[in-house]
Amino acid sequence: MDISVIILAAGQGTRMRSQKSKLLHEVGGKPIIQHVLDKIRRLNPKQILLVCGHQAETMQQTCDNYPVTFVQQIQQLGTGHAVQQALPLLKKPSLVLIINGDVPMLSPNTLETFIGQCPQQAIGFLSACVKNPDGLGRVVRNESGRFEQIVEHKDASIEQKEINEINAGVYLIASETLQQLLPTLKNQNQQGEFYITDICLAGKKAGVDIYPHLIPNSAEIQGVNTRVDLAIVERMWQKQQAENLMVSGTTLIDPARFDLRGTLQAGQDVVIDVNTVWEGENQIGNYVTVGSNCFLKNVQIGDDVIIHPNSVLENVVIGSCCQVGPFARLRPGTVLKAGAKIGNFVETKNTTVGERSKVNHLSYLGDATLGKGVNIGAGTITCNYDGANKHRTTIEDSVFVGSNCELIAPVIIAKGATIAAGTTLVQNAPAEQLTLTYKHQQSVVGWKRPVKESKQPSTKNITSESLE
Ligand code: UD1
Ligand code: CA
Repeated sequence: MDISVIILAAGQGTRMRSQKSKLLHEVGGKPIIQHVLDKIRRLNPKQILLVCGHQAETMQQTCDNYPVTFVQQIQQLGTGHAVQQALPLLKKPSLVLIINGDVPMLSPNTLETFIGQCPQQAIGFLSACVKNPDGLGRVVRNESGRFEQIVEHKDASIEQKEINEINAGVYLIASETLQQLLPTLKNQNQQGEFYITDICLAGKKAGVDIYPHLIPNSAEIQGVNTRVDLAIVERMWQKQQAENLMVSGTTLIDPARFDLRGTLQAGQDVVIDVNTVWEGENQIGNYVTVGSNCFLKNVQIGDDVIIHPNSVLENVVIGSCCQVGPFARLRPGTVLKAGAKIGNFVETKNTTVGERSKVNHLSYLGDATLGKGVNIGAGTITCNYDGANKHRTTIEDSVFVGSNCELIAPVIIAKGATIAAGTTLVQNAPAEQLTLTYKHQQSVVGWKRPVKESKQPSTKNITSESLE
């Protein structure tokens, strides 16, 4: 039978103590709701109905790229009430998978097994035994182990609170059964809400088989109710990402100190040291080393590259055999051609550095194009901004720029030119010549350094004295 999915995502998530809907908080840099949708999509359902309420507009924007139909639950009167809102739009007949939107680690395999093993016409739900069932719905069974009912923590007796088998918040039910039983749910409970969990008891009374699908790995049904849960799930996600990378040939010096908030495709024999953070989409080649404490976002890195510690790279393309850092900041639009070198305390933006060119220390290159084999001395700055507009600096092949130069853009330094240290370049520099703006150096014969006056009772006040 066709599968329809109803995702419950209307709640505020009061326990997060946040202005933002709980499901818009991120795990691995991706909103929780998108994690759930990515997994659901793998089941190829006929339709996905997303029940939203709190921050519905933002929720819809966040899920815009997914094939979902949005359903409004204007007042959040409980999970059963949320399902009720989706009922009119549900394709019938279908097998309906109802899932809480706050379980991002649930694996598609588990869902597939559950759907495969749930007897036809039965109401199935996922359960797991956990160490700390606090706050969760308990699965009550009779002496012979048969299902009795699901009792919410707040409604549970002292004995029921001892039960450690919990309801995971994922249900499977035929559309006709759902349609028949939903209207019978009552809200006579501690929270005054309509609970979807009560559909199991209602089904049992109506003679429907109830199938609790107990899963061995309780970790994957970890829900996110508080920021503590959010941190637990984040770590689980990061552990998975780290393991995937290691299995595919990357060395992580410490997988517990690795954070991927996006994607990373790495070649072989890549070594990543501790405390790196990766965002967006990243691709790196073979034999790349990334030092400790680096932040990288949307980077494309070729083979045999070394990124030294404490470097920050965003939207950059780096060719093979380059070296970057330590303490380098490569901003968007930076392109390093093969063998280029960017050293410590160098900032680049919207700049191409040609093959084998070096910018080794303390420089700012913005809106610049450097040819091959260029050498930029320490403390060189492209003055690219005149307060209103940005201008380009072009530095052709084999140029040598001495230390502490100001290159006032727009300006072109032609091939093979040498710019003397300390030059303020205001016009284009011709090829193969030395260009300099030195004032002549002088030495003053007989000049004496001032000496400190000997201490005498002073008439000056304290403030002027301390300013000397
Ligand atoms: C729910 C289950 C509980 C189970 C637990 C597993 C109920 C009554 N209880 O409790 O048995 O152990 O999940 O994690 O279902 N939502 C709506 N509309 C509402 C209320 C909630 O769409 O009116 C959505 C929320 O956004 C959330 C999901 O339903 O994504 C679950 O709600 P939540 O309040 O987190 O339920 P729990 O108390 O965790
Ligand atoms: Ca929950």
